[in-house]
Amino acid sequence: MQIRPAEANDLDLILEMRLDFLGEVRERAPVGTGNEFRAETRAFIDRTQQEDRLRTWVAEEQGDVLGMVSVLVNDVPPLPEDARSREGYIINEYVKPAARGRGVGRLLLRAALGSAGRLGIRRFVLLATDAGKPLYVQEGFTSAERYMVLPVPPARPSVPSD
Ligand SMILES: CC(C)(COP(=O)(O)OP(=O)(O)OC[C@H]1O[C@@H](n2cnc3c(N)ncnc32)[C@H](O)[C@@H]1OP(=O)(O)O)[C@@H](O)C(=O)NCCC(=O)NCCS
Repeated sequence: MQIRPAEANDLDLILEMRLDFLGEVRERAPVGTGNEFRAETRAFIDRTQQEDRLRTWVAEEQGDVLGMVSVLVNDVPPLPEDARSREGYIINEYVKPAARGRGVGRLLLRAALGSAGRLGIRRFVLLATDAGKPLYVQEGFTSAERYMVLPVPPARPSVPSD
């Protein structure tokens, strides 16, 4: 088994695994899982890869893809005690069901975390699933109590008044 960085032509591989990942981890189907959602997701991966903000690693064994993980690199302001101005948002941590429990997820996560020095990343953040939490805790992640979130409802299309 080997872990390799994804290349530009892995776009559709990443897309398919992300859709499989969402299909498994979301309690309800994402809004619009059809062609429009697929196209938007593909465009997002393409754009952020071209901007060099999406870094993905792929696990393979004898030509078979076993899983992936990505880091979305975001800008954050420097702090007085730490001038590094990027954080890594971990997404797409996914191992195909048949390959689970063999350490693939851990190796993928370690590959992603190992990019910190090269990319100037100050910290990693993620939203953990129940399945992923034990692994993240083992690798040193803790829950951040001061981290707060405010979802913004999507804008409704305006209806003409007359
Ligand atoms: C989470 C996931 C990536 C783990 O991949 P994996 O290759 O099976 O993980 P590993 O074999 O490297 O195991 C790493 C650790 O995860 C935990 N783990 C793995 N399988 C587990 C299971 N069935 N139940 C509980 N913990 C489990 C264990 O702590 C394990 O460490 P240990 O073997 O030393 O006990 C995989 O289950 C997955 O893709 N799940 C669906 C997608 C998902 O939830 N991703 C996380 C998004 S935040």
